[in-house]
Amino acid sequence: MSEYVIDDREMPRFLVNRQAMVDPDVFAAEREQIFDHSWLYVGHETEVPKPNDYKTRTVGGRPVIFARDANGAVRVWINSCPHRGAMLCREPQGNARFLTCFYHGWSFSTGGGLVSIPGEDGYSDSFDRPDLAAPAKVDSYRGFVFVSFDPDIVDLHTYLAGAREYLDLVADQSEVGMQIIDGSHEYSVKANWKLLVENSYDGYHAVSTHQRYFEMMVAAHGKLDTAALSDSIGVDLGNGHAVIVGAPTTGGLFGRPLSEVGQAERTGRFNRFRQRYGDAWVDRMSGSRNMVIFPNLVIIDLVMGVIVRKIDPVTPDYMEVTAWHLAPPDEGPELHRQRLDNFLTFWGPGGLASPDDVEALETCQRSYAAAKELSWSDISRGMNRPVPLGSDELQMRTWWRRWNELITGEGLPTEEHAAADPLYTGRRLDPAELS
Ligand code: FES
Ligand code: FE
Repeated sequence: MSEYVIDDREMPRFLVNRQAMVDPDVFAAEREQIFDHSWLYVGHETEVPKPNDYKTRTVGGRPVIFARDANGAVRVWINSCPHRGAMLCREPQGNARFLTCFYHGWSFSTGGGLVSIPGEDGYSDSFDRPDLAAPAKVDSYRGFVFVSFDPDIVDLHTYLAGAREYLDLVADQSEVGMQIIDGSHEYSVKANWKLLVENSYDGYHAVSTHQRYFEMMVAAHGKLDTAALSDSIGVDLGNGHAVIVGAPTTGGLFGRPLSEVGQAERTGRFNRFRQRYGDAWVDRMSGSRNMVIFPNLVIIDLVMGVIVRKIDPVTPDYMEVTAWHLAPPDEGPELHRQRLDNFLTFWGPGGLASPDDVEALETCQRSYAAAKELSWSDISRGMNRPVPLGSDELQMRTWWRRWNELITGEGLPTEEHAAADPLYTGRRLDPAELS
């Protein structure tokens, strides 16, 4: 594979070849070298709360069934009948003791075993009854379920590296366990999947791309609280994962203050957490984080809720996106209403943010295909700073370094200083501390 990433510390500059977004060979290499050898997010355990609940979805280009078996264990099966390959489960979700293939009627339990075959006398006694096929590995961390199609991959705990801590900061936000709210946003974008990865933690674009949103907030609330936008840093979490960490906040964020009811309730809950977890942890919880777990899981945790976004490449210039909202089920109705309102009106496919982002990404993609004179995209912002800000591009460089390593087999130097304080507590670091 030719060179796709230039990381030059002398200049300093970090360039990504735009062919990586359009070339079908790159796309095929990503399937084989990234998606077949990573841990990939499937869903959250709370999406299948009862025995025999199931959801169907696509993971790493494969159709899968995400289920809880009759004994309560979370299972993931390839959604293809072992008999002759028909899609076994054709509903997006449901509850069923048996998964019966519509083609010839073979039936399987949610535990994967073949339960019955119509006309079984047509098979000899020694016939090998196949179970459902499964990904090589299935594991979960704090309710987030992942699979890998690589039997030799490192364990999930190791793979998640520094991202575990940020999943903890999300998962600890409920006294009874965070839960996916029923329903999801599903939309598609005519752009390469990596552009949405970048956009999902691109603090630099917020004020210009979403200008209208901020103007609206100023009009509604008189002033704009941009502290969280400016007082944030990018952190390399290892293995290609990275996060933008926003400073602790007790009130408004991005100009969207909570109502008095919501704020009082939230403050009360966080005060109880202080007894349980201590101030330092709760201060960090009350900040914000935009994280990408390599390669395609996005967790956006701003004050008004936690968005879980899965990005699925379909072709080099087309992706499908699914987003869920993760919330504390024990909060009151007013806060719950505000979360859902924010999920729909800001993050939704027709909301205030997503259409602007989609428009930006689709124009990028069109230019990559057409304007060959401009071969490289620049994501150098912040390379000159000892601690890159959230509006810099360290997080994307972290992701691209891992991408480059897997696609070309060549490692790139890391930005050591970025991981110097993974336990960011909201204070801006003094560069002298990093030596
Ligand atoms: Fe499923 Fe034949 S393909 S029963
Ligand atoms: Fe955006």
